[in-house]
Amino acid sequence: MLMNFVLTQIFNFSFCFLFLPIHGRLHTSTSLSLSPISLPPSPAPTAAVSPSSNANSAIGTTVFNVISFGAIGNGVTDDTKAFKMAWDSACQTEDSEILVPKGHSFMLQSTIFTGPCKSGFKMQIDGTLVTPDGPDSWSKRNSKRQWLVFYRINGMSMQGDGVIDGRGEKWWNLPCKPHKGINGKTLPGPCDSPAAIRFFMSSNLRVQGLEVKNSPQFHFKFDNCQNVLIESLTIKSPALSPNTDGIHIQNSNNVKIYNLLVSNGDDCVSIGTGCYNVDIRNITCGPSHGISIGSLGDGNSRACVSNITVRDSIIKNSDNGVRIKTWQGGSGSVSSITFHNIHMDTVRNPIILDQYYCLTKKCPNKTSAVHISNILYSNIKGTYDVRSPPMHFACSDSMPCTNLTLSEVELLPASRGHVVSNPICWSAYGTMQTIIVPPVLCLLEGNSEVLPDNDNDGC
Ligand SMILES: *[C@@H]1O[C@H](CO)[C@@H](O)[C@H](O)[C@H]1NC(C)=O
Ligand SMILES: *[C@@H]1O[C@H](CO)[C@@H](O)[C@H](O)[C@H]1NC(C)=O
Ligand SMILES: *[C@@H]1O[C@H](CO)[C@@H](O)[C@H](O)[C@H]1NC(C)=O
Ligand SMILES: *[C@@H]1O[C@H](CO)[C@@H](O)[C@H](O)[C@H]1NC(C)=O
Repeated sequence: MLMNFVLTQIFNFSFCFLFLPIHGRLHTSTSLSLSPISLPPSPAPTAAVSPSSNANSAIGTTVFNVISFGAIGNGVTDDTKAFKMAWDSACQTEDSEILVPKGHSFMLQSTIFTGPCKSGFKMQIDGTLVTPDGPDSWSKRNSKRQWLVFYRINGMSMQGDGVIDGRGEKWWNLPCKPHKGINGKTLPGPCDSPAAIRFFMSSNLRVQGLEVKNSPQFHFKFDNCQNVLIESLTIKSPALSPNTDGIHIQNSNNVKIYNLLVSNGDDCVSIGTGCYNVDIRNITCGPSHGISIGSLGDGNSRACVSNITVRDSIIKNSDNGVRIKTWQGGSGSVSSITFHNIHMDTVRNPIILDQYYCLTKKCPNKTSAVHISNILYSNIKGTYDVRSPPMHFACSDSMPCTNLTLSEVELLPASRGHVVSNPICWSAYGTMQTIIVPPVLCLLEGNSEVLPDNDNDGC
């Protein structure tokens, strides 16, 4: 009985789809010829909805299999057009799903997928998506800063157990990248490399289950997004791949990042300006450059970051653990940040706060800075790589850090021999709530006098 119902539903949808392949348009446009939506492929797609491809979908979901739109999936042929057509049809249909089927590898050129889409929209990625193979294969017409962009989406779930492969190696080896030029030099020249997946000006997003690897640059970038859930992803690229941040967010709020496994060549997760209400849990990073807030205040800019929690995570074999980094000369604030229950395993700078961030070592001293306050480090335990001190709080002379709190922090050298163990502090006001190992005797007591009360630093 139930089965009958399901089949009836399915066949109703295929019927609908076969004879009105653009049925979403019926609700949205009376002028077929002027519609911005791509024309249906010729011949018309068939079997877009079939009992087998629909088996795991909720009753009532219309499935748009990219193969029905002409995608080949041999890893070589450019399938961009078919994906765009599948997108246009699915996006205009309530409760629809774009299906990227298992057992195929689809090569896509850099593309912008634009919303908003109808409600209940999903992209089910069970197969593989690959980039063009390196800069020479990148279409000259496309931006080299991004590959797949999702723009103005309100409500979308991207999920599946498929793979997104950025094939970054030829980008990492460009002569402009650190030490990749002749004789190990870094050569000047255009150096743009694409972020693999970018969500821009979007909301109510969920990204779940995928493996994303070898991005030419950031694996995921979310900017100007709200209400985002990112969970159960595996992100992988080599430890020496430049700028391959796992997830970068900026100007975004209400973001939840849960259950990730990340190994890469730059920050595991990085949080840029304009982020607030971010909850990060159960992330395993390493090798990586750790979890980072910043860099902020570049070019004397104002940066505002608040209410960020990172908890129940593991950072191993990484350059940094939990880091806050700002340039001199900025303004604004970083406040209400909690790092809780984080296990460090052989991390070079497990806890680092650096307001003198500078890539060239010759940045001039400036008098303004992003104000850092109300930072809690609690239950952070494990081992540090003995080449650097386990804790480092280098705050601005003119704008000291205030209300740093350490509780249950215990960091031991990962090996014997020459051990650098004394924590470093500069203009850092804060307290130790429990016994801290090693003790941070350099923290200043009380509150800095240079700061006016209740100053929200313009944020
Ligand atoms: C933490 O994340 C890992 C990796 O995704 C997952 O296998 C594990 O079940 C998660 N643990 C919890 C308590 O959710
Ligand atoms: C901080 O962010 C969390 C979500 O991560 C939210 O639930 C909470 O209400 C926020 N707190 C404040 C004071 O805005
Ligand atoms: C900048 O300030 C720091 C800390 O006061 C000091 O050690 C350093 O010498 C200064 N650098 C320059 C270029 O003035
Ligand atoms: C200091 O920071 C803690 C969180 O780390 C916060 O609970 C407390 O209210 C802050 N104190 C002041 C005076 O702002």
